[in-house]
Amino acid sequence: MSSASPCTTRAIAWHGRSLELLDQRRLPRACVTVTLTTAAEVAKAIRSMVVRGAPAIGIAAAYGIALDAWRAVADGGGGIEADVHAAADILARARPTAVHLRWAVERMCKVLEEGPEASPAGRARRLEQEARTIHDEDVTINRAIGKHGAPLLEGCSGVLTHCNTGSLATGGYGTALGMIRRAWEDGTRFRVYACETRPFFQGSRLTAWELDNEGIPVTILVDSAAASLMAGGAVQAVVVGADRVAADGSVANKVGTYGLAILAAAHGIPFYVAAPLSTFDPDTIRGAEIPIEFRPADEVRFVEGVQVGASTVDVHNPAFDVTPPRYVTAVITERGLVKPPFERSIAMAVGRTGQREGGGSPWCGPAET
Ligand code: MRU
Repeated sequence: MSSASPCTTRAIAWHGRSLELLDQRRLPRACVTVTLTTAAEVAKAIRSMVVRGAPAIGIAAAYGIALDAWRAVADGGGGIEADVHAAADILARARPTAVHLRWAVERMCKVLEEGPEASPAGRARRLEQEARTIHDEDVTINRAIGKHGAPLLEGCSGVLTHCNTGSLATGGYGTALGMIRRAWEDGTRFRVYACETRPFFQGSRLTAWELDNEGIPVTILVDSAAASLMAGGAVQAVVVGADRVAADGSVANKVGTYGLAILAAAHGIPFYVAAPLSTFDPDTIRGAEIPIEFRPADEVRFVEGVQVGASTVDVHNPAFDVTPPRYVTAVITERGLVKPPFERSIAMAVGRTGQREGGGSPWCGPAET
């Protein structure tokens, strides 16, 4: 079900037995929300980019599991474990690169395993509570990232970012955009340069819209204009988000990030990654191991329904790329800065928090038959 609504940057709203998502494919032209009632619908919304951004898809997946848990209760409750396992499976596989998706699903599965003696309704209630907690915590984490990162932008008159890492991509406030927001709130005055981020245009459609709504000066540029912009001296910092940070500090993020990191290094500009600790994946040792999602050819061949590439021509459409650690100045997390040498600093950051302990089964494992 979809409906027009007053426009806010709230990507995800939980209504007890349904999940409302702002359809990000339609922004900024139209504010339309979709209402979902099953995990399968949530997985489809994640795959088709109704909701996108690493933390946001993790939060949506957590709610998706809660939806199917409550449906199992409505069906008598006997199938709650199998149904939650099946939901976890379909949601964890919806997109491969962002580790936050798997992290959120695993966290929900742990909650299910905690209370086998509870009634089905009690277990569903606990799962719903966990999804809400994941959502609330994300906003708190983003504000902490903003607080730690904002001082890095003091004195900058131009900050370049890529893709969308704001409220729309998270539970609220944002990671890289949270850092930018906080710096602005603290009184630093700069212009944000938002790369348009082909082919989905997260930069021009979403980031520029979010910043403009808040009165933060923003300029859109085509992705290929970043080099000359930096050469002209307009940019003093690049700030991006991440979908996964490997144990060696390699950063998977929206395709184009790697090129921006090389450009930043060539121009002596710091390159910052803002990401929650749940984005670190110590089980992935090197960047080359990070699975990169390839998306349909027609996302490149068509722009808003207008054909810009012949249907007969092949398309290369990776959604993400991997930036080697040598180009990353620092990763800004909710606990502070993680700096090179990354093997050591990441092991300490993640080891201390226990965010990604274990590493055996990918999530709940398949449903018992
Ligand atoms: O394909 P998307 O729009 O989900 O890609 C999003 C990004 O690459 C973001 O930079 C990343 O998920 C961090 S969002 C806080």
